[in-house]
Amino acid sequence: MSLRIDILTLFPEMFGSFLGTSIPKRAAEKGLVDYKLTNIRDFATDAHLSVDDKPFGGGPGMIMMCPTVYDAVEAAEKQDPRTAIRILLTPQGQRFDQSMAEQFARRDRLLLIAGRYEGFDERIIAGLNPIEVSIGDYVLSGGELAAMVVIDAVVRLLPGALGAEDGAADETFADGLLEHPQYTRPREFRGMSVPDVLLSGNHAAIAKWRAEQRKMRTKERRPDLWQAFEERDK
Ligand code: ADE
Repeated sequence: MSLRIDILTLFPEMFGSFLGTSIPKRAAEKGLVDYKLTNIRDFATDAHLSVDDKPFGGGPGMIMMCPTVYDAVEAAEKQDPRTAIRILLTPQGQRFDQSMAEQFARRDRLLLIAGRYEGFDERIIAGLNPIEVSIGDYVLSGGELAAMVVIDAVVRLLPGALGAEDGAADETFADGLLEHPQYTRPREFRGMSVPDVLLSGNHAAIAKWRAEQRKMRTKERRPDLWQAFEERDK
C-alpha cells in the first residue's frame, strides 16, 4: 500500500513543480506515494471567501480561522479510510529532523497543514490535535516550503524511491555523522588533486579514510552531533 500525503494549503500551485520533479515525482510514478492537494479556500463560506480574521485582543496580522481549516481537514480525511497523522507546520513546533522523517515514512497516511498569515487560531491545535512541526528557527511566509521539506525528506526514505546506487542507508544523519568528502573526474583540477587513497584501489584503506573524515568533520562543524554520537557509543 502506498503512502498517501494530503496537503492542505491556500497555495496549491506552489507544489506543482516540486511534486512534478525528480524523486518526489518518480516515487509517485512508481506507486510508492500519492499526493492529494486540498485548497483550504475551497471551504470558505462567506462572499469574500475569508480564511483569516483579525486577532481577538488586538495586535498585528491576521489569524487562520477555525471553520475553514476544520472543514478542509474533515473533507480530506473522509476521502480515504486510513487514519492520517496530522502535521501542522509552524515555527512553534517540534524541530524536524531525520528521525522524525523516518517515523513519518513508516506511516501510511500523512496530512500536512500549511498556514499563511500570523498563525492559527489556537483551537485548530486544541481540537485537531496535530503534531506541530518546525523546520528550523526562522520564520517563513507560510508553511508551504516547510511542508515540501518534510515531504522531500520522507519520500526519499520510502523503499524503492531512490535508485539502486544511491541508497539512503549510509548518508549523513543515518548514523549521526556528517558525510566524508567526495570527488569525481578529473583527477586534477586547477591545481587541486584527489586524495591518493581514493585512487589506490585499497578498499579497506578507503573505508578507514572516509570514517576518519566523517568524524573529523562532525567534530569540527557540528559539536552537538559529535557529542550525541560519542554518548551513544558509550
Ligand atoms: N511556517 C513559518 N515558518 C515555519 C518554520 N520555520 N517551520 C515550519 N513552518 C513554518
